[in-house]
Amino acid sequence: MSEEPTLVVSKIRSGTVIDHIPAGKALDIISVLGIAGKEGLRIAILMNVESKKLGKKDIIKIEGRRLSPEDVSAIALIAPTATINIIEDFAVVEKYKVMVPNIVMDVLVCPNPTCISNKKGEAIRTRFRLTSRDPLKLQCEYCGTIISGDEVVRLVIRKR
Ligand code: CTP
Ligand code: ZN
Repeated sequence: MSEEPTLVVSKIRSGTVIDHIPAGKALDIISVLGIAGKEGLRIAILMNVESKKLGKKDIIKIEGRRLSPEDVSAIALIAPTATINIIEDFAVVEKYKVMVPNIVMDVLVCPNPTCISNKKGEAIRTRFRLTSRDPLKLQCEYCGTIISGDEVVRLVIRKR
């Protein structure tokens, strides 16, 4: 008896499926979501699986976690093609594509140590303006520092 040549990854009961992630980006997303694996959440990470639209893609399934708007913005900065699926009772109850907003608030820290948004004791929300979508470029509204796509992962605020 031969086995099916398919890898079946089970559906989740409730939580979030992040689909259509560019191949190789899943671990960056896990990192910015602050997932360490010690939370006890059931998680499936699929990397480099076949996709009709993207050739290859990554998928992340997280049982029992909802995403905040800041989580979704951070995902958009890393994986602009991603789709978020909200699952309840095994059904997809909501599906949307991520979008990088023109103003990205409270998602990234400014890499400029003298920026006012980095001053201790100042309750300033960080604000970056999207100046280019592809290649990704964002500019701090306080000090003008420009950050590019490859810097995003290490600049995401991990307050979650
Ligand atoms: N999914 C899941 N658990 C569920 C329901 C869906 O893990 N209970 C996953 C599916 O495996 C898929 C994603 O969530 O990776 C989206 O599900 P669905 O909308 O049913 O799939 P498609 O129609 O293929 O999605 P799309 O059109 O966005 O490609
Ligand atoms: Zn700044």
